[in-house]
Amino acid sequence: MDPINLYEYEALAQARLTSMAYDYYASGAHDEITLRENHAAYDRIALRYRVLRDISQRSTATTVLGHQLSMPVLVAPTAFHKLAHPDGEVATVRAAGHAGTLMILSTLSTTSIEDVLAAATGPVWFQLYVYKDRGATRALVERAEAAGCSALALTVDAQVWGRRERDVRNRFQLPAGLSVKNLMPAGQEAFPKEAQDSGLAAYVASLFDQTLSWKDVEWLCGLTKLPVLLKGVVHPEDARQAADYGAAGVIVSNHGGRQLDTAPATITALPDIVDAVAGRVEVLIDGGIRRGTDVVKALAYGARAVAVGRPVLWGLAADGQSGVERVLDILRFEVDLAMGLCGCADVTEIGRDLLG
Ligand code: FNR
Ligand code: LAC
Repeated sequence: MDPINLYEYEALAQARLTSMAYDYYASGAHDEITLRENHAAYDRIALRYRVLRDISQRSTATTVLGHQLSMPVLVAPTAFHKLAHPDGEVATVRAAGHAGTLMILSTLSTTSIEDVLAAATGPVWFQLYVYKDRGATRALVERAEAAGCSALALTVDAQVWGRRERDVRNRFQLPAGLSVKNLMPAGQEAFPKEAQDSGLAAYVASLFDQTLSWKDVEWLCGLTKLPVLLKGVVHPEDARQAADYGAAGVIVSNHGGRQLDTAPATITALPDIVDAVAGRVEVLIDGGIRRGTDVVKALAYGARAVAVGRPVLWGLAADGQSGVERVLDILRFEVDLAMGLCGCADVTEIGRDLLG
C-alpha cells in the first residue's frame, strides 16, 4: 500500500536517499531538542471540538497575502531539491500548483529562479539569504521579481549556521553536477572543497552577511515592490518590529530546529506573536507540522497558514512531483477531516475557543 501519512513518506524517502542526503534533510542542530519539540508541542495541545454544527459542506480554502489557496498549507523553502530527485524544484513547484497552493523557493535552489517560475502553475515566493556580496543579493531580488515571484521571504535566523552534527560527521557536500544554481553568475555556486567538515556550513560562513540588521529590512524593502515577509522570528518584540519596518508578514519559524537548539517550538511561540502584531501583518508558521490537526491548532492560535518543509522533501524523494502531490493531498484530506471533527465548515470558524 502507498504511504497514507507523512511519516510513512519519510520512511520511504529514507530508503530511497543516500544516507548523506537523508541526514542533511532530517537533521536538526546539536541535540535536536527543538527538532523534536516542534512536533511534540502539537501533541500536547488538545482540540476542544464543538458538536451539532452542520459540517456537511466544508472548505479548506483561504487567502494568504491576497493569494487564493486551496488550503492553509504552503511549501516552505528548502534547499537542494535535486538532492532528492532529478526533477528537483521544478517537480516541487508543479506539485504546489497542482495542489492549489504556493511554493516558497529557496535561494539555495538547485534550479534557477527562471526555470522554476517557467514551470510554475501557481504563485511562487522567493526566500532570500543576504550575502556579503550585496550586488549578488540585489541581483537575486531583481531576478526573482522579474521572473514573477509575488513576495520575498527574508530569512533572518541563519546568518550564522546551526551546528548539524550529522552534516559534520558526513562532511556534507553536494554531489557532482549540483550547485547553488542562482549564485552561478556571481561565481558563488559551489561549497568550498577544502571544508573541514560540513561543506554547507563552510559556504555559509564564507558568504552570508552576519551584519544583517533591521536597517537591511529597510534596504530590502527599498529594492523591491514585492511584499516582504520575515522568516525565522520567535520573539514577539521582533514580530512587532517587523510590522514597524513595513514587513507584510512574519513566518514564525526556528528553521525546523536546524539553527539554535532549545529555541522554543514554533507553536509555543505563536500566540504571543499573534497578540504582539495585533493583525497588522499576516502571521504564518512552520516547524513540525505533520498532521491536519497540527494545521487546525496553528490556525486556532491565530496563524493565517502554515508551511511544511521536510514532508515535501520526503514526497519528492519518494516519487518526484507525484510524491509531493500525494503529500499535499494527504495533508489537505487531514485538514478537512480535522475541521469536520472540530465542527468547523471553513477556516474562519477555527478559533482559540477550540483550544480550551
Ligand atoms: C530548510 N529550511 C530553509 N529555510 C530557509 O529559509 N531557506 C532554506 O534554504 C532552507 N533550507 C532547508 C533545508 C532543509 C533540508 C530543511 C529541513 C529546512 C527551513 C524550512 O524553510 C522550514 O523552516 C522548516 O523546514 C520547517 O520545519 P519542517 O516542516 O521541516 O519540520
Ligand atoms: C538549511 C538551509 C539551507 O537549513 O536553510 O539547510
